Amino acid sequence: MQRCDTDDHAAYRRVLERDDEEREALLDALTINVTGFFRDPDVWADLRPVLRELSEENGRDGVDVWSAPCADGREPYSLSMLVADDEEVNERRFRITAIDISEEALDAARAGVYETTRTTDIEEELSPLSDPTAYVEQEENVFRVRRSVKSRIEFEQYDLISDGPRTDMDLVFCRNLLIYIDTAYKERLFETLRDSLRPGVPRAREDRDGAPGLRDDFEPVAKRSRIYRYEG
Ligand SMILES: C[S@@+](CC[C@H](N)C(=O)[O-])C[C@H]1O[C@@H](n2cnc3c(N)ncnc32)[C@H](O)[C@@H]1O
Repeated sequence: MQRCDTDDHAAYRRVLERDDEEREALLDALTINVTGFFRDPDVWADLRPVLRELSEENGRDGVDVWSAPCADGREPYSLSMLVADDEEVNERRFRITAIDISEEALDAARAGVYETTRTTDIEEELSPLSDPTAYVEQEENVFRVRRSVKSRIEFEQYDLISDGPRTDMDLVFCRNLLIYIDTAYKERLFETLRDSLRPGVPRAREDRDGAPGLRDDFEPVAKRSRIYRYEG
């Protein structure tokens, strides 16, 4: 209502009835699938040294990253673009598994097509990259993620509450999910994330308050961005 400068619900309803863009903006504002390329730029800045460290040869055959949950794919695509964009990161070593509970979100993620709208400026979102055109094809307001960026990522449906842990992940992104999860399930979710990690590697997560029993297992790598290393 503020955005349209309407005084009451009836007036806002009339705006919605005639304005497609406002209907889309309202849906964007209400959905829990809100995401973005390079969402929270500080996190991505703090991740660069972590990615550089992980990409060093360590006797293993690669670096496994879990984007959990990935929503419409912009989080794992950001990572895939960043490892290619940073000259000190060996992009060939990275494999990304991106999961979400929502098939609809995963369909959008697999398609990898994003549009600039009144509430989303894709060009602006991609601005941390040195050369965004290397990673997306742009046609007016539409941006298609290039095959080279997609090739590092597997998308899968997965329920982080009931499907249990994965194994041997070197880095786990779990961002902007806990706010939607009932307290009763938080501890199980933390255990799933912890048990998916190879000990001694950093992870990005949003909050440690929900799982007091697990706190001692983690050391901060970058406190402002809530990146932690699982000590095991
Ligand atoms: C706000 S988005 C976060 C996306 C991304 N991590 C980010 O920070 O931009 C939250 C996503 O969590 C997914 N989700 C909710 N419950 C889930 C669960 N139990 N397991 C896996 N994904 C879940 C939703 O479908 C939604 O796409």
